Amino acid sequence: AETCCSALLLFGATGDLSRRMLLPSLYALYEDALIGPGLRIVGTARSELDDAGFRAFAHDALEEFLPPDRKDEAQLSGFLDRLEYQALDASKLDGFASLASKLGDTSGGLSIFLSTAPALFEPTIEGLRHAGLAHGNVRIGLEKPLGNDLVSSARINDAVAAGFSENQIFRIDHYLGKETVQNLMALRFANAMFEPLWNAAHVDHVQITVSETVGLEGRKGFYDDTGALRDMVQNHMLQLLALTAMEPPRDYDATSIRDEKVKLLRALRPVRPEEMVRGQYRAGAIKGESVGGYIEDLGKASETETFVSIKAHIDNWRWQGVPFYLRHGKRMAERRSEIVVQFKQVPHNIFAERGGRLRANRLVIRLQPEEYVRLQVMAKEPGLDRSGIVLREVPLDLSLTTAFAKARRRIAYERLLLDLIEGEQTLFVRRDEVEAQWKWIDAIREVWARGDEEVKPYAAGGWGPNAAIALTERDGRSWND
Ligand code: BG6
Repeated sequence: AETCCSALLLFGATGDLSRRMLLPSLYALYEDALIGPGLRIVGTARSELDDAGFRAFAHDALEEFLPPDRKDEAQLSGFLDRLEYQALDASKLDGFASLASKLGDTSGGLSIFLSTAPALFEPTIEGLRHAGLAHGNVRIGLEKPLGNDLVSSARINDAVAAGFSENQIFRIDHYLGKETVQNLMALRFANAMFEPLWNAAHVDHVQITVSETVGLEGRKGFYDDTGALRDMVQNHMLQLLALTAMEPPRDYDATSIRDEKVKLLRALRPVRPEEMVRGQYRAGAIKGESVGGYIEDLGKASETETFVSIKAHIDNWRWQGVPFYLRHGKRMAERRSEIVVQFKQVPHNIFAERGGRLRANRLVIRLQPEEYVRLQVMAKEPGLDRSGIVLREVPLDLSLTTAFAKARRRIAYERLLLDLIEGEQTLFVRRDEVEAQWKWIDAIREVWARGDEEVKPYAAGGWGPNAAIALTERDGRSWND
């Protein structure tokens, strides 16, 4: 990584992501002395604030989102003193000159983070270019969504490429900043015992579930225009899929890892209509509390999906014939992100004559809310059964929370902001990668647009429409619920 830059410039500094994630993450980096005293932190947004006003805003955000044991007064005020602010309407060119003069000399390096509506990406890049803020020593981080199909994504990528080269561009997928997601690579490539079995000869199928209990969360307009497929599958779930299924990279670096992910994404077979299910939640109850349906939450009729399930196939040697079942939805029974690798049955059951029924091994990688790796294995029940042996499935358990009990759980943006500041691109999405994702997603949406099949209802608090359950059951398989 290159040396740390002299300023971090945050667009959308008074937005929700900034309050919840970015400011608390920057504070964490400050607490741990991971950002040097020379780094200026400059916020910008439309709100007419001055430095003091932005510090008050940040103070409130930290009060709200930091745990009580991390609110040391001296630390807090030290951090707040570092913050500066410049009001700017990024849709107009004229404000960028004042921004540039606020920043002063940026030749020592500038990191920019765009956490704004995507409609502002293009004018912002143009403004930065006009103000001389798009030089060779600038890095730019882009929050999702990066377009809403291949064409619009390519347009944004072109606009950014007009000011910056690919090694200056940091496309964010916050799942990559999660410890547990990085741990997936550690599990696969720092251990000898998984990789030899990680293929079609030994794996029956893979399941990836990202279920949420939340609903619209005050983002009605955005969500209704976007839908579950584009909000979660195009980015986060395809990252999980790619990291689970890619070939071993030659090195833990940005080029090697992203090359492998791109290869994998390009091997995804277009999904057939009967292998996809979209759903929308109706009224129901989550953990005993009743919640309304999507249409009521939204306040108007809509066909937008809040649930998707897909049976995906990867056309390469390693995964031929191994389906990857994906499932994501809002207002589901519980919040859970997990990857389940279902292994094949043993070739011959020596216990069959004595009534021993075997369940095939299953590796469950739970990313959230708990963090564990659990291998379901068959074991003998203790005791003197007449048949000689009674078998039962038991977990071989690795709780990461227990194994690393002293380590504070970090939020994804701590890692990502630090990497942006330090110029480390491994956990950011490359252009060809995001475009390969969109290509596959667009084909799914084309099928939806052509077909007259309606969005299927499901009760809030459940596991999605029956059709999603049928997706596995008609193959003689079942979701790991
Ligand atoms: C965001 C989506 O990218 O990820 C949200 O826009 C979703 O709809 C969120 O709730 C989930 O993130 P996490 O980290 O809570 O799993």
